Parts: sequence; C-alpha cells; structure tokens
Amino acid sequence: MNISGLKMNFAGKDFVRITHYSKKEIEYILDVAEEFEDTYRKKTQMKLAEGKILATLFFQPSTRTQFSFQTSMHRLGGSVLGFAGTEYTSVMKGENLEDTIRMFDSYTNIIVIRHPEAGSAEKAAEVAKVPVINGGDGSNRHPTQALLDLYSIRKFKGKIKDIKFAFWGGIKYSRVAHSLALGLAMFGAKIYQVYPGNQSLPDNIIQELKEKYNVSAPPRLQPDEALKQVDIVYMGGAIQDLTIGGGKAMVSEEERKKTLEEYNKYFVLSLERFKKLGVKDDLLVMHPLPRHVETLKPDLDNTKHCGYFEEAGYGIPVRMALLALLLNVKN
Ligand code: CP
Repeated sequence: MNISGLKMNFAGKDFVRITHYSKKEIEYILDVAEEFEDTYRKKTQMKLAEGKILATLFFQPSTRTQFSFQTSMHRLGGSVLGFAGTEYTSVMKGENLEDTIRMFDSYTNIIVIRHPEAGSAEKAAEVAKVPVINGGDGSNRHPTQALLDLYSIRKFKGKIKDIKFAFWGGIKYSRVAHSLALGLAMFGAKIYQVYPGNQSLPDNIIQELKEKYNVSAPPRLQPDEALKQVDIVYMGGAIQDLTIGGGKAMVSEEERKKTLEEYNKYFVLSLERFKKLGVKDDLLVMHPLPRHVETLKPDLDNTKHCGYFEEAGYGIPVRMALLALLLNVKN
C-alpha cells in the first residue's frame, strides 16, 4: 500500500508526549489514519509490517490500549509479544525497568509501555533504540488516547478548532485529560472544566497550555450549564484510581469519599437528564472508557449523543497509522 501523499518521516521516533509533535505532524498522523479505516472496518490484514514485532509491556491493566495496539499490529501484518501484568516476568525477581526495556529493545522493533510511574515511558525511551510509545504513565500522560480522541472529534464534528469541549469529572490526576487538553489547545478548541471537589487540571498542565499554545486556564462551568452550552462532554471518573496496578494513591480516603459523593450526585449522565434539560440534539458524549454504568447510563448508548464506542474503535486506524509511521513501513 502506498500511503497517499506521505511526506513526513517519523522513522525511529518515540511517541511519549503529544507536545513533542507539531500540529502539522499530529494532523498528518490523523490523515494517515484515514487511510487505514478500510482495513479497520473490513477487518482485513495488510503486509506492511511483515517481519516486524511489537512488544506490548503492560505493567497496569488495560483493555483498549493494549488490545487495540495488538490488533493494529496484526492488521498491519506484523507480530506481537509482551505481557499484561508482571507476574511471570523477571520483574518479580527484582529486575528494574531499564533492564526489562533493554531486553525487549533487542527482541522487537517497537515497544508500547503502560506503567504506574509518571516518567516511566521517557525512561524507557532513553534506554531503547527502537521507538517507544507511551500507553499511559501514572497520572502523567496518555498521548495515544489523545490522538484517537482528536481523530474522533474530527470525524464526529468535522473540525476541532472552536469546538466547545468540556472535561467532565476529576481531571487532576487524569493522564488522558492532561494529554488531551494539550492536544485540544494545539488545534484551537475551546476548553472548559466541570469537576467535583478540587479535581481541576493541575498547575503544570495549565502552565504548559499557556507557554506552548497561549491558552489560559480553562474556565470552570457548573454541570447543567455545561450540558446546555458545549458541543462535547468528555466524561471521566471522579478521581483517577492509580492504585490499580501498583500506582500511588493521590488523595486521602476522606477526600476520595467526599469527591465521589459529589460526583455521584451531580455528574451522572443519562438520557433522562438530557431530556429534562433540553440539551442540543448534537450534544456529544465521549469517554475514554471503561465507564461505570451507574454514572454513564446505558440509556444513552443507542442515541445520537453516544460517541464513546465509536471513539474506542477509532483506536485501530489511529494506532495503525502511528505504528506504520514510527516503523517507517511503507512502499
Ligand atoms: N482508554 C483506555 O486507556 O482504556 P484502557 O485502560 O482499557 O486501555
């Protein structure tokens, strides 16, 4: 296959932060992803990555990131190996991250890592000679989720610039929100925050928004106000639970309980609520998933407001594009 108009060369680059790439480069990855939609939808296999091996090193649980990367590599014609949890690896014998990465660097052509520690993907990228992709590092970043979300917004709304976009839920420790806020700012979306307790975007992200994209701290909206005003609500949980898979608890038990109570009272999204409020027909709900069905009600699933399942599916063409570009597999 010839990726039409392929002009940019990402051979051997890492994908650790979205801000390491320019808007033109991100746009280009999204354009290349369009070229893989046919393979994604028809569930066929190409030969582009024949002979190449992807390592998926998941120190923390994952359904979408892990298996959409694996699916993408298979669809490109390559092979996959790796682990989900370290139970039967030598991490259990005390091997450090750097040495684990050195091994997969010699065995494979490209690495995706998810790890509970912030900065672990950067650490891996410093050690590995093959490209390293960050599949989520602690409460820090999740840049490929941002990539597929930007792609989804473009598909759903036809553009990203000037789209009114509200983060809905606790985003202080949300690696998804951190990467996506920067990606949205890069493309000129109008960002808002709707959060419980003190779970707003953290200072380091606010500072980066300002320094890199000249965007001020996104205004806070009240839940009903946001539902009436914005084009997209991007739901997440009350507080990201980083303890699953070995991360640190970021808030006290008391604060967690209080924030969760507020979230469960004011942040539930349902068709019933949308009807009562009279929201716009094209108000779109996105969610990186997994969701809690108690707060994102299944009565929204089969309505025009539901973007979250299609959004997750777009992980395939987007991750195919990223793998193909970093591996430089094209003819
Ligand atoms: N969106 C996302 O990162 O999902 P997983 O944790 O299942 O990979």
